[in-house]
Amino acid sequence: MDNFIQITEGQTKLLVPKNSLQEKVPPHYPAFFNPLARLNRDLSIYIYNIFLEEYNNTKNNQITFADAFGGIGSRGLRVAVEVPKVSKIYINDINELAIITAKESAQLNNIDEKCFFSINEVCKFLISRPTERNKRFTIVDLDPFGSPSPFIECVLRAVQDEGLISITATDTAVLSGIYQNVCLRKYFGLSINNTYSNEVATRLIVSSTAIIAARLGISLTPVFVHSNRHYFRVFLKVSISNSKANMVFDNLGYIKHCFKCGERNFSSIYSKDLCPVCSSKFNVSGPLWTGKLFDKNMILNLIKKYFSGDFTNDKKNQQIKQIFDISVDELDDIPYYFTVDEIGSMLRTSPKKLSKIIEEIICSGYRASRTIFRPTGLKTTASMSDILSILKIRE
Ligand SMILES: C[S@@+](CC[C@H](N)C(=O)[O-])C[C@H]1O[C@@H](n2cnc3c(N)ncnc32)[C@H](O)[C@@H]1O
Ligand SMILES: [Zn+2]
Repeated sequence: MDNFIQITEGQTKLLVPKNSLQEKVPPHYPAFFNPLARLNRDLSIYIYNIFLEEYNNTKNNQITFADAFGGIGSRGLRVAVEVPKVSKIYINDINELAIITAKESAQLNNIDEKCFFSINEVCKFLISRPTERNKRFTIVDLDPFGSPSPFIECVLRAVQDEGLISITATDTAVLSGIYQNVCLRKYFGLSINNTYSNEVATRLIVSSTAIIAARLGISLTPVFVHSNRHYFRVFLKVSISNSKANMVFDNLGYIKHCFKCGERNFSSIYSKDLCPVCSSKFNVSGPLWTGKLFDKNMILNLIKKYFSGDFTNDKKNQQIKQIFDISVDELDDIPYYFTVDEIGSMLRTSPKKLSKIIEEIICSGYRASRTIFRPTGLKTTASMSDILSILKIRE
């Protein structure tokens, strides 16, 4: 274990490869650990805790968590220490050294009794659960290198009714419109390379997962999503129901975007019409998830339960609280956003403050909000031309 060092993340002690703390891009060998994914893991701990607070355990199922691409166990071990409602944690990885390290970390935290380890190919691990649905995992996390798309069906077969799946994708170029054929093949829809491509990418992960789920008689409801430059992440609640799964297409649609004048809108049916403002051809992305992305009641309860104190001197928790606060107000029934910079460049002026723009749009009778997808992003029912005329009048 010479190549490893002990750190503490959250309340959990972790043995991590020394080179993962030294190199810019975390190496795959001897085992993978990404220290920069801490925010991603912190947010997950909050979501898992509140999800299980509200989990309707009528069948008295044992609450279990599967870290399917567990690596050195950073997520699974943190769940074992920091999500008390989970009674059994299963950590799997194909890299034997990663699992040996995870086992040692479990001992350091005195949680080895509730942790179970395996060295297996991910789908083998996931589908080896008993066939009875209530003996499957309550929560399954999927954190592959690159695209989760080859593994989605295995995850869906491994999770209980009313359970939760969390999925990370790091194939950002594919999902952001650079490789359209690959995106279509993996996510059943076209993306777009523009200012809000991170939201389009996130919605494509939700829609492609929901389409596969529907085939299996499973309906998915997003409870939370987030993204940064390197990844997209979705949390989806599982409901086993053919009738609900039949409704999947109600939540799918297309975004039409005009690269010339910045106009954008969405509809449930595909149509390649012309931009009503400048008559250029619209660029169409989708089919993608156009339904809601956040369980706002759940997130409000999360904020009440974990963030009612004073965080003036705690930058990290302030950042996390701000993400949850924004998601509660976000107009997630609109599948795109505008940015302060693009509005500024259309107006040929230096951009106004985001809060001021939102205020002025709301005063003009439209809905408007911030978005967790970008600090300078805004969602609104106003079109680009509406926004420009509102801001011109008020200049
Ligand atoms: C992105 S890393 C997981 C990181 C981990 N979840 C964390 O938070 O630290 C992906 C992991 O998948 C493992 N892996 C790659 N292909 C696999 C496969 N087919 N089955 C199981 N594990 C696999 C790698 O060894 C690596 O540890
Ligand atoms: Zn146009």
